[in-house]
Amino acid sequence: MKALVLAGGAGTRLRPITHTSAKQLVPVANKAVLFYGLESIAAAGITDVGVIVGDTADEIRAAVGDGSAFGLDVTYIPQDKPLGLAHAVLIARDWLGDDDFVMYLGDNFIVGGITDLVDEFRRTRPDAQILLTRVSDPRAFGVAELDAAGQVVALEEKPEHPKSDLALVGVYLLTPAVHDAVRAISPSRRGELEITHALQHLIDTGAAVRSTIVKGYWKDTGNVVDMLEVNRTVLETLERRIDGQVDDASETIGRVVVERGARVVNSRIVGPVVIGAGTEVVDSYVGPFTSVAENCRIADSELEFSIVLRESSIEGVGRIEESLIGRHVEVTPAPVVPSAHRLVLGDHSKVQIHT
Ligand code: DAU
Repeated sequence: MKALVLAGGAGTRLRPITHTSAKQLVPVANKAVLFYGLESIAAAGITDVGVIVGDTADEIRAAVGDGSAFGLDVTYIPQDKPLGLAHAVLIARDWLGDDDFVMYLGDNFIVGGITDLVDEFRRTRPDAQILLTRVSDPRAFGVAELDAAGQVVALEEKPEHPKSDLALVGVYLLTPAVHDAVRAISPSRRGELEITHALQHLIDTGAAVRSTIVKGYWKDTGNVVDMLEVNRTVLETLERRIDGQVDDASETIGRVVVERGARVVNSRIVGPVVIGAGTEVVDSYVGPFTSVAENCRIADSELEFSIVLRESSIEGVGRIEESLIGRHVEVTPAPVVPSAHRLVLGDHSKVQIHT
């Protein structure tokens, strides 16, 4: 069995932050979303991985390399334009050969991995198996309609009036039956060859399309609360590890990771917390469910339930909670006079100010 990982797409701006142009590299607990996907593919016993790349190919290649760091053998498959998920299957046809495969969308995050699902698929081997999850706004997803027996009867891509709250998760277990289906369909309203339509074609032609409902699913939809929540879930599984320096005046409690080259001085860190390589925490408190990425500086401040991306500094500002702070950001106190907030905020920023 092989894996086809989709890490292409246009280099569009990420919401809620323009973290990077490749949305598959947005970090959760200081690690790219895509890496969790690759790790769960390896954990499921799959080593042959094709990675679809588009505009952001250089960034993805630099991050993933030849895959050996994950125990994988990675082949890159360039896609000229993001013409759809089924188009990605079409162009990977030669590489896929006649193998079964898991198609994994690189911006999706499945808590708990895919090993059980892959094992079940191998055991029962339907023509295709899809994953569904309940979401509050299904209009942003592919949506499945099930009959009373739980069989998939219809699938719609981003419907205006969804027939259920069951969204298609971006992991599809497929057999070579999908190849005829992706050739049979036409581009959708948004001009893409939709895997949702290929699956509907399989259903219409009598193929067995099974579904499994999963919990613990996340993808970046621009919602900061969701992003903090998935970060929290992953941090809860951290193993304590102190590879950086922590001075005698500091205290680290519980699941705390201090990466190599990080320095903690006269500070209190209450886990789960991860402090990235090269980051300094001085005279500060860092509280539960916080990820601070590489080369940041936190000084004379308190930080809790937050994400700070790399090369940012927070100095002398009191307490910050439930916040998402981008790369190369500076948070500093304002001069005492005049009593005013001074802001330089990027596009789509959101600030809450105490008045
Ligand atoms: O995330 C789950 C959803 O993914 C499903 O519910 C939908 O049914 C499915 O169509 C898909 O919807 P999105 O519109 O959210 O997909 P997006 O364009 O974000 O692409 C998903 C991933 O695949 C992303 O990592 C970029 C990559 N991609 C996308 C396209 C269209 C490619 O590599 N090539 C492409 O042509």
